[in-house]
Amino acid sequence: MVRRAVIVGCGSYLPARVVTNAELASTVDTSDEWIRERSGIAERRIAADGETTSDLAIAAARAALNGSGVEPAALDLIVLATATPDNTFPATAAKVQAALGAAGCIAFDVQAVCTGFVYALATANAFLSSGQARTALVIGAETFSRILDWRDRGTCVLFGDGAGAVVLRAEEGGRGDKSDRGILSTHLHADGRHYDLLYVDGGPSSTQTTGTLRMQGREVFRHAVSKLSEAVEEALAANDMSANELDWLVPHQANRRIIEGTARKLNLPAEKVVVTVDRHANTSAASIPLALDEAVRDGRIRPGHLVLMEGMGGGFTWGSVLARF
Ligand code: UT7
Repeated sequence: MVRRAVIVGCGSYLPARVVTNAELASTVDTSDEWIRERSGIAERRIAADGETTSDLAIAAARAALNGSGVEPAALDLIVLATATPDNTFPATAAKVQAALGAAGCIAFDVQAVCTGFVYALATANAFLSSGQARTALVIGAETFSRILDWRDRGTCVLFGDGAGAVVLRAEEGGRGDKSDRGILSTHLHADGRHYDLLYVDGGPSSTQTTGTLRMQGREVFRHAVSKLSEAVEEALAANDMSANELDWLVPHQANRRIIEGTARKLNLPAEKVVVTVDRHANTSAASIPLALDEAVRDGRIRPGHLVLMEGMGGGFTWGSVLARF
């Protein structure tokens, strides 16, 4: 009998303020046409003054807990993926824990930028499948608007704010094959040699400032397409599976062209790919759980469905999680 981490609830939260490309073009030297054509983005959400990453995370976490019927006191573990924490320390996860009323359980942040949610899910899965925890909350939450250089049109038009969360419960009884419910595989990678292609030019130890995001977009694009294809092939091979067995691809939402390129390589029809980048832009660690929650809530992802999540981001980091709902 195999013990698996099963996703038993999802939730998400988006700040109220919608900023369209046209609105951005009134202050940045850009156009709706350029942004849509190059990235597929039409609008993004921006956090209100004073609204922090933990505020977004708490709202998403409450929605996920409500949907799963799990009480905060039953949580053994909270893993929060973010590159935009409220403070340098303590972990934003600890703030979320206190607000939810889950004091005493394990709570920490994971920092893998846009691959953060994949890293956090893989971490929670390791705790649950090894018996170190039974019930976990995994959150991806970001306020990237706070680390953008609004004079750099090559980056500031691409990102947005938001949060998504899932509740996981360890369940015994799996057969140990791909028919099991729950997380079937996780694969994580990093290559720190590409630091200068995507980074924030500040931090407590280097500059004593927060810094702003710097990206060589075209180079990152090239790496993203190849790393994501490798990640998807690795997950399929590890599960002795072909792409047509997948019900849904829920990719990190950075650029519509990257998402479509990955789907094309897999021969996956567009109808099997969950896309939110048009409305959310790139919300880094929050993008996958936001997309997942949307597709679960609108009835696309249903119990029994096989869902592949994949992402790539600063570090570089990249990876995948395959799960049966
Ligand atoms: O989530 C983490 C991973 N991040 C990503 O995956 C992002 C990966 N990269 C990308 O998505 C794309 O590279 C971008 C959307 C960032 C850019 O698309 P691109 O087709 O690679 O454009 P480019 O950077 O090569 O720029 C093309 C032109 C340049 O002008 P010239 O030099 O050809 O005259 C830029 O100056 O577009 C210009 N440009 C803009 N024009 C209008 C750059 N940004 C803008 C802008 N509005 N916002």
